[in-house]
Amino acid sequence: MGNLAAAAPAQGLALLLSLHLLLTSSYAQPPPPPSGKIGPARMFALEPLPYDYGALEPVISRRIMQLHHDYHDGVEYVSTLNGVLGPLAGSGTATLPDLIKMVGRGGLSPDEELVVRNFGGGHWNHQLFWKVMSPLGSSNTSRSNISPALQNAINGAFGSTDEMLRRFKLVGDGHFGSGWSWLCVSGDGSLRILDAANQDNPLMAVVLFDPCIPILGLDVWEHAFYLQYGPKKPDYTNAWLAIINWKQVSANYDFASRGDLAAIGTDF
Ligand SMILES: *[C@@H]1O[C@H](CO)[C@@H](O)[C@H](O)[C@H]1NC(C)=O
Ligand SMILES: [Fe+2]
Repeated sequence: MGNLAAAAPAQGLALLLSLHLLLTSSYAQPPPPPSGKIGPARMFALEPLPYDYGALEPVISRRIMQLHHDYHDGVEYVSTLNGVLGPLAGSGTATLPDLIKMVGRGGLSPDEELVVRNFGGGHWNHQLFWKVMSPLGSSNTSRSNISPALQNAINGAFGSTDEMLRRFKLVGDGHFGSGWSWLCVSGDGSLRILDAANQDNPLMAVVLFDPCIPILGLDVWEHAFYLQYGPKKPDYTNAWLAIINWKQVSANYDFASRGDLAAIGTDF
């Protein structure tokens, strides 16, 4: 869609990004606060995982979690957001989900939109991802933690939890290239499953015209599974279904039903 229009600013941005990445040599070390309008209060932080790096084994290896959290979320997404979005003029005091909702809806310059879409989306999506997983066999992963409200919504849209998960997994397995499978809550409270490319999510108008608030996301980028599963993505998605933190997904459903976007991702 906006790819042609974004091409010229994107070249300048690519230069800025390579320079920034060159200067950011160590893991999870954000650069000093920039002096732009966004200011120090707008710096984004990488929170530690809510469990040990090895806690999701054998479903996800310690090594994948180290690289995925520290490098991809930390160095790639958070540091780039802080280093590049910070000095750009414009977005005032908008929260990260506020900025993400602006993607495809105007209000951001082409450079800002590119950074928010890829790196802001990347950070927000991963914050959600870390929280919707719990160690295999822990009580959070028991389906008895699905709240009555969420269960009603699942049954209404898909008939059963099994059927919802079957579709959620198939959408992830069938996604071509990097991206996510999403379960989200529409404006009318109903649930939807859809995939999105790269770090896009259904809050962005480039994915859906009416925002749908994600409550469960499955990362199907190769960085999420290849070291352990090789090309067997369906084995990864199958194993992953057993580590869903249903307590958190139920809380996310409540937040989303109230339209409390800020509670999902950064603050829950
Ligand atoms: C269970 O989930 C809640 C909500 O996400 C979280 O605060 C808690 O640490 C989790 N417990 C375990 C053992 O993972
Ligand atoms: Fe990822």
